[in-house]
Amino acid sequence: MRRLCPRPLRPPLLLLLLLLPRPGAPGTRDDPSPPDGAREPLQGLRERLRAAAALSRRYWALLRCRVWPDDCERDGEARAAPPGWSLPLLGQQYLAILTSWYCSFQDCCDSGDCRISNNFTGLESDLSIRLHGQHLARELVLTAVRGYLELPRPDKALALSFHGWSGTGKNFVARLLAENLYRDGQRSDCVKMFIATFHFPHPKYMDLYKEQLTTQIKKTQERCHQTLFIFDEAEKLHPGLLEVLRPHLERQAPENHRAKSRKTIFLFLSNLGGNIVNEAVLNLLQAGGSREEIKLEHLVPRLRAEIEQSTDSGFGHSCLVKENLIDFFVPFLPLEYRHVRLCARDAFLSQELLYTEEALDQIAKMMVYVPKEEQLFSSQGCKSISQRINYFLP
Ligand SMILES: *[C@@H]1O[C@H](CO)[C@@H](O)[C@H](O)[C@H]1NC(C)=O
Repeated sequence: MRRLCPRPLRPPLLLLLLLLPRPGAPGTRDDPSPPDGAREPLQGLRERLRAAAALSRRYWALLRCRVWPDDCERDGEARAAPPGWSLPLLGQQYLAILTSWYCSFQDCCDSGDCRISNNFTGLESDLSIRLHGQHLARELVLTAVRGYLELPRPDKALALSFHGWSGTGKNFVARLLAENLYRDGQRSDCVKMFIATFHFPHPKYMDLYKEQLTTQIKKTQERCHQTLFIFDEAEKLHPGLLEVLRPHLERQAPENHRAKSRKTIFLFLSNLGGNIVNEAVLNLLQAGGSREEIKLEHLVPRLRAEIEQSTDSGFGHSCLVKENLIDFFVPFLPLEYRHVRLCARDAFLSQELLYTEEALDQIAKMMVYVPKEEQLFSSQGCKSISQRINYFLP
């Protein structure tokens, strides 16, 4: 990957000097500089200037680190502040402001925008190490997202619809995407999350919600050329809201997108069709197969059919489906005992706690498993595992 703008780095010195704490404010002026002590203050001033220059170099190095993280890794020196030198809090705030100001009109990172990291290596590694029991989602999400983001000029948004029981990792994958595609993860300016029952609870305000959603999407796209919108509880989204999304999901005429490449990803998270997915996995396991044998071709047609037939009121998802506006259906399989154990292990590790095999078993046994006879699948997946480990802390 080549940087877009390998221009020489020249610190905007004046700006940086403005940011500096005034070097030893008391003293310089109070000093009447008596003729006999003339060398003293001059010497002092020289030292202060030197200190200020060193400090401004530090500021510059830090700013450069934020703006061109690659350079920073190469010389490494700027990232590790020298002993005894720490950036004052105020300085850090200035630095953040300066960085975002600078990046708002400079192509300063590989992606052309420092807020966008698109770390596919990180995404791939997270999906294979931190996500458990989801071989289909792991493959499909990586391929679909990478394929889309590597297109020079996509003519529509990408829409992925995640289906599965609660606790199977739909929100987790959405978070991993945000974290690997954006420097600030879910807190990024470029990422917006909507929860149907929280953001759009009352059908009678639908017109207002539509307006708000339209504005939010527009504003986010103006701020960022690559945006991610996550709709949780998508099964409860009102059809009217999906009308708002339709223009983004349909192909745009070529003249509309000549000006500037814009990439938009919509994620829809729902438990719709979760039972279909579970049934398929159960049948396979009962027939003596292993869950890794299950292929998208086995699941997706059934999933689609189920969603299309769903007649639940307030379910607007189906119109997106019927009109083929969803690019990929991503099934999340029900989790088994061994997966819950892995989630428990991750929870311990993420808090840097020691764990025992017994503790992992005990936590996994706290979950309810279904169906009654076989007790194969955790009915809550890995939900709230991280809270459960608190019982096992010393
Ligand atoms: C991408 O993610 C990996 C794994 O999280 C990390 O080690 C690597 O430093 C990241 N790369 C960049 C350029 O941020």
